[in-house]
This record gives sequence, structure tokens and C-alpha cells, in this order.
Amino acid sequence: MKETISKLKKFVSTSDQIVAFTGAGFSAESGISTFRGAGGLWSKYDPSIYADVNRFREDPSYYWSFFRDERYPVIKRAKPNEGHFALVELEKRGKLYRVITQNIDGLHQVAGSSDVIELHGNTRKIFCLSCDRVYSMDEAYRLLQEDLPPRCSCGGVLKPGTVLFGEPLPQAALDMAMLAVRNCDMFLVLGSSLVVYPAASMPRIAKKSGAVLVIVNIDPTPLDDMADLVINESASKVLSRLI
Ligand code: APR
Repeated sequence: MKETISKLKKFVSTSDQIVAFTGAGFSAESGISTFRGAGGLWSKYDPSIYADVNRFREDPSYYWSFFRDERYPVIKRAKPNEGHFALVELEKRGKLYRVITQNIDGLHQVAGSSDVIELHGNTRKIFCLSCDRVYSMDEAYRLLQEDLPPRCSCGGVLKPGTVLFGEPLPQAALDMAMLAVRNCDMFLVLGSSLVVYPAASMPRIAKKSGAVLVIVNIDPTPLDDMADLVINESASKVLSRLI
């Protein structure tokens, strides 16, 4: 690990427009399960049933039971880990240009990162499909105790502010992310399996735009061959050593 950290330090010392690109592995050490890899959620829950927008439209109770049993309890308790705080430190040192995250837990913002692009939305806002009234995650969870799926006071079904499979990514987030991808001098992937598009197209575009590509991920990813450096270690440990 010593040798890879010194290589990483060298790349970071010559960059000042770093984009940090985080996935579920980055929040794993905050107690939030990943989707793939060891013990991943999708090995227990079929995402085409529990996290797909078409299935949600047919029967929202699948998603909401997944939210009630798996997501809300861990996200509610989760706190930022050393990795989140290390990114805040990199920002303070004027090294970090943007954080682009696939995570919906909001932990980057809680840790103090000031410029976070959430590609897959977030759980903070939950809204009524009929009247657009907005609920907090806690309110939705309380309504869930009475009704599955949870319903608005107008009777409409509630929908999370996260992007389900089959849904387009928020256009503003996608546009901001693509701009950052094309203008960064280093693209640092932290805890992502890099299999879900269009997010997973970003490392390649960054590399083509001239950025150094570093992938920090416990398991191998399909983009390892094009990376300038691959570190198969815990992202929070690597970042703490870097800082
Ligand atoms: N440090 C670094 N990597 C880790 C750690 C860790 N502490 N723990 C797990 N990993 C790695 C795993 O090896 C795995 O390859 O993190 C990766 C997590 O991959 P996924 O669970 O697929 O998460 P992600 O890449 O963010 O998934 C993308 O898929 O299901 C959708 O919308 C969901 O945003 C998610 C998207």
C-alpha cells in the first residue's frame, strides 16, 4: 500500500482540479450496504422488482418495503466516515474541484463538502405523485407505519427523490457533472463498481479529456485497464493516508 500511496501523492501534488467520484463503497464504512460485491443488497433484493420505476408505477409497495426494512434504518443512523472528511480537507487545500456522487445518503454534505453533484438524487426529499407536496424522509417513514405504500394527506402515493432504474438522471446534475468531468485534471474514483451508466461513462470521458484516472476500489472494475493507478483498498483508509 505504501508504494501506491506515494504514487497517489505524486498525482495529487500536481493536480488542483480533482474530481472525486464516489459510489456505495465510499459509504460502506458508514454502515450503509453496497449494492454489489460482498454482501451487496442486490444479492438479496432483485433491483428489477425493488428499485425499478416501471415496477414502482405498477406496485410501489415493493420499493417502500425495501426503503422501510433496508434503507431508512441505516441511512438514518449513518455518519460521515474518515473518507468523507478527507475530501473536505482536500477541498480546504484547494485541490478538490467537485464531488460527483452516485450515493443518495447526503453524507458528503453532512461532512462539509460544499460542491456535491448528486447523480442519483437523494433521500432528503420525498414527494407526492399527485399534488407534489414534499415530505421529509422521517415523515415518510412515519406514514409507512400506517400504510404501505405511504400516502400523502391528499391520498396520493409518495415517491422518493432518488433515481430508480429506468428513470433518467436529473438533467442539471448530469450537465454539471459532464462539465466537471471534461475540466478536471484528475478523476478519482472512490468505491464504485463502475457498471451503471451513464455514471460509469465518466471515468473514460475524463481520461479522454486529459485527466489522470485513479480508481480506489476493493474489487476490480471494468475500467481498471485504462486507469493510471488502481488501488484495491478501503477508500477511507487510502484517503486518510493521503491527507
Ligand atoms: N472502499 C473502497 N471500495 C469499497 C469499499 C471500501 N470501504 N467497500 C466496498 N467497496 C467497493 C466494492 O468492491 C464495490 O465494487 O465498492 C463498490 C460498490 O459497488 P456498488 O455496490 O455497485 O455501488 P455503485 O458503484 O455506487 O453502484 C452504482 O448502482 O444500484 C445502483 O443507484 C445505485 O448508485 C448505485 C449505482
